[in-house]
Amino acid sequence: MFRSKTKPKNQEQCIVKNEICHTNRNSFNSTVAGCCLFSVLNQARFQGRPLSFEEKQGFANLAFAGGRDTVIATVTRIFAEAATDPELLPAIRATPDLAVSAVEEIVRITTPLTAISRTGPRDTAVQKAGGRIGLCWASANREDRFFPEPDRFQAARNPNPHVGFGFGPHNCLGATHARLLLRTLVRVLAEQEVTLRIQTQEPQCENHGGITRVNGFQNLLVDMMPISHPCGGSVIEKQENGSEEPEDQP
Ligand code: HEM
Repeated sequence: MFRSKTKPKNQEQCIVKNEICHTNRNSFNSTVAGCCLFSVLNQARFQGRPLSFEEKQGFANLAFAGGRDTVIATVTRIFAEAATDPELLPAIRATPDLAVSAVEEIVRITTPLTAISRTGPRDTAVQKAGGRIGLCWASANREDRFFPEPDRFQAARNPNPHVGFGFGPHNCLGATHARLLLRTLVRVLAEQEVTLRIQTQEPQCENHGGITRVNGFQNLLVDMMPISHPCGGSVIEKQENGSEEPEDQP
């Protein structure tokens, strides 16, 4: 997996973009009928005509780009939550169904797609026709009328009417796929009987219109140790030398 980098901005993003375009152009030249995304787009008709290259490229970019940084942000958050809350993985191991609500809560608290804007087609009370209106999913997901203690991760939170996947006609097309992937990750991680410990972390910061928001991690290095390992316990005992670090193992 790769993610969009903010530095060095344009050069790197151009390379990624060109790779996507190159793949798409070759794939869209294929006349072989199949059931992959490119093939479906090649066969699709809109108002009786085939899709243009730009339309097909738009769909492909949306599908690939929409499912990239969002998934990376939620996957890293799962590791970070599991490392900071030593009860989380044992609780899911004991009650595997908890993985379902835990994943919803990860998506709510992470809200990797912070905001999307729409262009209003006509005059309304809040905007003139043609103006842009921002839908801030991250803010909605911290609304304390719906989410008591909104800044606290609660794996069993119920109800959890978050809008991390959006809502309405543009509700995330990959939500089912993402949920399956994230639930599987959480369950498999819980089955491993390991404890996690964060070694280093560097937050990923977004800057929109002068507002900075932490969104997942740029880097996250996590130690994974079997529970049976002397360092694998959730409580780090003070060592005889007074340090709180576990002693090196032979
Ligand atoms: C945790 C993972 C994900 C999150 C949090 C997420 C979030 C969202 C959100 C908030 C929207 C609504 C955008 C809007 O209203 O304009 C959206 C749309 C979309 N997502 Fe996701 N997404 C995730 C994973 C994926 C994956 C894995 C894919 C594809 C493989 C994907 C493909 C799309 C597409 C194609 C749309 C546009 C739907 C439309 O406009 O009709 N997403 N996503």
